[in-house]
Amino acid sequence: IRGAAETTIGFGPSLGMAAVPDAVIQKYEGSFFSFIKGALGGDLQTLAGGPLFLLLAKYYQVHGPIFNLSFGPKSFLVVSDPVMARHILKSSPEQYCKGMLAEILEPIMGDGLIPADPKIWKVRRRAVTPGFHKRWLNSMIDLFADSADCLADDLIMKSQTKETVDMEERFCSVTLDIIGKAVFNYDFGSVTKESPIVKAVYRVLREAEHRSSSFIPYWDLPYADQWMGGQVEFRKDMEMLDNILAGLINRAVETRSEASVEELEEREVGEDPSLLRFLCDMRGEDLTSKVLRDDLMTMLIAGHETTAAMLTWTVFGLSESDPGLTKEIQAEVRTVMAGKDRPTYDDVFKMKKLRYALIEALRLYPEPPVLIRRAREEDTLPAGGSGLKGGIKVLRGTDIFISTWNLHRAPEYWDEPEKYDPTRWERPFSNPDIKDWLGYNPEKISSQFLYPNEIAADFAFLPFGAGKRKCIGDQFAMLEASVTLAMLMNKFDLTLVGKPEDVGMKTGATIHTMNGLNMKVSLKSEEIPETNDWWAQQHLSRGFSVNGRP
Ligand code: HEM
Repeated sequence: IRGAAETTIGFGPSLGMAAVPDAVIQKYEGSFFSFIKGALGGDLQTLAGGPLFLLLAKYYQVHGPIFNLSFGPKSFLVVSDPVMARHILKSSPEQYCKGMLAEILEPIMGDGLIPADPKIWKVRRRAVTPGFHKRWLNSMIDLFADSADCLADDLIMKSQTKETVDMEERFCSVTLDIIGKAVFNYDFGSVTKESPIVKAVYRVLREAEHRSSSFIPYWDLPYADQWMGGQVEFRKDMEMLDNILAGLINRAVETRSEASVEELEEREVGEDPSLLRFLCDMRGEDLTSKVLRDDLMTMLIAGHETTAAMLTWTVFGLSESDPGLTKEIQAEVRTVMAGKDRPTYDDVFKMKKLRYALIEALRLYPEPPVLIRRAREEDTLPAGGSGLKGGIKVLRGTDIFISTWNLHRAPEYWDEPEKYDPTRWERPFSNPDIKDWLGYNPEKISSQFLYPNEIAADFAFLPFGAGKRKCIGDQFAMLEASVTLAMLMNKFDLTLVGKPEDVGMKTGATIHTMNGLNMKVSLKSEEIPETNDWWAQQHLSRGFSVNGRP
């Protein structure tokens, strides 16, 4: 499609459209065997011969920031351009909805915030947002710290027996325990024990991931949940989780103490700090409908492995970087936390290097690596970096993948894009070749956020999405991960077992390691490590001043 005066792209199989774009990439690059296996299993990942986002990255290098990808009956418009992404994500949720993602997630999340259609979403987003108020977030810090303490106790034992620890698994357990408490005041206790409920949560998560990378809706086959191995198990798992949720919701309803949003925000958090408590007590909330269940289930799934993945890839990034980087962050953590065993909200704010280390992991490993939308009306995308005059017409019904993986790793938008380098967030970056892209400007980082957000990078960085359907838990996740990592770095040294290449990568909704993040843990004295201004050196060696100014 390069060089065309105006380009029309669009597929609307569900709407019976037959528009054929100039570039339909039907080339399949895996082996014949894996193609057949993928087709039978209906699994895009197998079809692609590996994680789908890696295939999209390969095509991006050949075909540029916008191309069509067809897999059998399915077609997607793949966008890897900040100007186009900005246009799509800032358009109204009515213009671009969640499309196939909603269809896939509906059996699990119902009408929860992620899959909700624009009409329901509007009502629910307005209801749920106040639950994430500043006071509540502040009170969550103790919950994060209690869970990190639990993890630390376990790591102390492992350090004594010199056992190898799979930190990815540990982070998943910690974040599951946190989200259980934060969302419905339920203790999964997964850091310390295995339970059938925890296993059910993980099986449901894996099924959700498998569905999101499948192009045959095998779960819709007649009576699939009665005869199809995995689907029977899935139904039973969902029944188990639904029963638990129903019990928790009923308990909260029975003890309801109705109040206005303002009163709730002022109220002492007390014994039950959960979102369920907040929503249940909120005047006007309809407790008879299913939406409360759907929103809570959505948050359990959305807020758990995403944060675990950010922690996992941060620890991985640090372990493969120059040791000077870890020392700098440890020095920062220990200076800020001197004499304390847990950080406060203000402490997290002061630990800038630690937060940049976390957000840098989301640049290299965005969770999820693609955002999915469907055009509900015809539209014209701006040309962005494609050089296409007159923009790109998108037909109604077109399924779109915004590849955050490609955006976050493109040399057009990042200096040394493949390098894990948390210091980059202090240096500006621009590219006059990309029309209408303002570049990355650290001075635009809002003091309201704990991270450089999409505005500072003018949509080349979308760690929590953007626009109206941006993540509702971004600050929660940043606080949670910062407290957890700070408490670990305050006490322990973590050393990767084996080579970085052994860790591998696989994907579903989030990017997991292939073989776990195996590490040796050792207790560290809490004194502040000596540093030789390693961080500042990174700026100086690239021609910037010590604080990252040009
Ligand atoms: C939406 C990422 C943590 C709840 C999103 C989106 C992204 C994202 C990229 C936008 C999806 C889209 O545009 O299609 C992340 C990452 C996290 C994280 C990387 C952790 C590092 C959380 C947490 C919660 C949460 C902790 C809840 C406690 C949600 C919800 C939505 C969402 C409810 C849907 C928002 C809407 O459509 O109104 N998240 N998330 N997320 N996230 Fe998160």
